[in-house]
Amino acid sequence: MDLGAKIVIIDLNIEGANEAALKLCDANVMAIQVDVSDPADVTEMIDGVVAEYGKLDILVHSAGIGIERSFLETTPEEWRRLIDVDLSGTFYCAQAAARHMVENGYGRIVSLSSTAGLRRGTGRTAYGGVVTLTKVMAVELASHGITGNALAPGAIETELVARMHFEETRRVYRAGIPLDRYGTPDETAFAAVFLASEQAGYITGHVLGVDGGFLAAGIMYRNREV
Ligand SMILES: NC(=O)c1ccc[n+]([C@@H]2O[C@H](COP(=O)([O-])OP(=O)(O)OC[C@H]3O[C@@H](n4cnc5c(N)ncnc54)[C@H](O)[C@@H]3O)[C@@H](O)[C@H]2O)c1
Repeated sequence: MDLGAKIVIIDLNIEGANEAALKLCDANVMAIQVDVSDPADVTEMIDGVVAEYGKLDILVHSAGIGIERSFLETTPEEWRRLIDVDLSGTFYCAQAAARHMVENGYGRIVSLSSTAGLRRGTGRTAYGGVVTLTKVMAVELASHGITGNALAPGAIETELVARMHFEETRRVYRAGIPLDRYGTPDETAFAAVFLASEQAGYITGHVLGVDGGFLAAGIMYRNREV
């Protein structure tokens, strides 16, 4: 779906970013290698993008890492890396982008949290921080014409999930998903496109579940009539 945006794909993995850019087959797509946990690099990259394109209307921050580690077993190094990438990375990118958006009086910031940011889950502390950060941005940036929203994906078939979800994870997860399947990256992307659109201008501070109903569910019977 071509909505006319000029796109810059940022990733630590430049091969992956280049591949994604190639798939879009568009001269208006550029890929840049940046570690979102490095504030100086992020600022330089965002300033460079604005210098190249003249302005920045939309930021979708979906860089992230995940570890399956219990509270008691998480090491200080793992803790720091998770917070640095998932939470501080969201902050650095959003702040650097918002500084330019403020000049234009317009902006759409979409961050990636998780259903675990709303309902919690093992090893997923940073996601709760992204929810709080999203609401703070919504409040503080509203007068500048900038909205701040987040997506809360449940289980989406991405490379991260291929690495982290074992057979048992999948079985337990699906038991809690009314739609009884994992989501696709496209289904998450469409939700981001909606929140990033001009038409979503009256939605801010919202965390939108992309979760097949996971957040709505409690006890569910699958194979018998209730
Ligand atoms: N897939 C899911 O089911 C799911 C569920 C809940 C939340 N999320 C969150 O959604 C976001 C996207 O996840 P995904 O499933 O697409 O993961 P993914 O691993 O498939 O993609 C994440 C991307 O982030 C990049 N990245 C990692 N560290 C980086 C860094 N320091 N700087 C720049 N880029 C970096 C990786 O190279 C990768 O391309 C993440 O924040 C993730 O935690 C995903």
